[in-house]
Amino acid sequence: MPHSPRSHRRRILHPLPLLAAGALIAAGAVALPQLTPDADAATTLRGYADGRGVRIGAAVGDTPLTADSSYTAVLDREFNSVTAENAMKWDALEPSRGTYDWAAADRLVAHARAHHQGVRGHTLAWYAQLPSWLKNGNFTAAQLNTILKNHINTTVGRYKGKVYAWDVVNETLNDDGSMRSSLWQDKLGTGYIANALKWAHAADPAAKLYINDYNIEAAGAKSDALYALAKRLLAQGVPLNGIGFQSHFVVGQVPPTMKANLKRFSDLGLEVSVTELDIRIPLPASSAELAQQSADYKTASENCLGVAHCAGVTVWGLTDKYSWIPGTFNGYGAALPYNANYAAKRAYTGLSIGLNPAA
Ligand code: XIL
Repeated sequence: MPHSPRSHRRRILHPLPLLAAGALIAAGAVALPQLTPDADAATTLRGYADGRGVRIGAAVGDTPLTADSSYTAVLDREFNSVTAENAMKWDALEPSRGTYDWAAADRLVAHARAHHQGVRGHTLAWYAQLPSWLKNGNFTAAQLNTILKNHINTTVGRYKGKVYAWDVVNETLNDDGSMRSSLWQDKLGTGYIANALKWAHAADPAAKLYINDYNIEAAGAKSDALYALAKRLLAQGVPLNGIGFQSHFVVGQVPPTMKANLKRFSDLGLEVSVTELDIRIPLPASSAELAQQSADYKTASENCLGVAHCAGVTVWGLTDKYSWIPGTFNGYGAALPYNANYAAKRAYTGLSIGLNPAA
């Protein structure tokens, strides 16, 4: 039977508005609204995003997906899109040459299908998380070209029709706007980017193909270089459809130029997406910082949704319980909309309002 989004939404029971309303009542602020099931469903991030025709996504780790039902309850209630946090990276997919392990990636794709979520594919050509056979293989340029082509063909082909957008190329620039050194850049030159996009397009013509990077949210040398690269690729007829703005921010530092910068890419006819949003706070997080973080989530999501071709916003995780931040940025954490006990933080409210000003 074809899926009916409306009947699906109507069945969702959503505790958050009740919690929020309960807190307000406790503070003597408002009377408890009479919640119909429809009103309930509309007040999820997912309901707001559906209403705007955009994606609200989360990066998903295989461990919480398979072992934490509190996690999946929030994921499926609040998000209409998922990104594999690691499971579609090269080291996870092809740990030894010629032997693919699809198990974790397949699990996420199956989960998304069962819960009527779209999948963003992440990522095909990147300098990091490469298997050692590839990184240390001393391959010639001709060999690497074939290896990359086969990997893209195999991976995009496997999920053809199941992944709505691919981060084909990830983190290809330095902060000064020069091309970043990588296995691909160093051996194949910048031409690998156009080739990767063409190979991905051949494998799934319907998937939206992205270049994804960080520190490109603000106007500046890096985003100028990406703008020039994107313009050149489009002029050459290369199948580039979108730019992914990772948006790993520090609290209080959403760049004031972000919206205008996203707009200039959108004005090229490209989709823009916020692909890895998190907003880290020096620990322990103060009440003022958590309030600022809420404002930042609102601003960051508004900056995308306020631009014509914004496809949506993906958060890099959903709960502070599993975020990559504490392990990568020493002394920082508390970066996501839910705390480690799955209570919605003020950041959740900020994100809600960013998705729907009436929230
Ligand atoms: C991170 C994951 O969150 C971690 O679990 C992993 O150990 C390292 O990679 N930019 C990206 C993502 O494009 O793939 C990275 O994800 C975060 C930065």
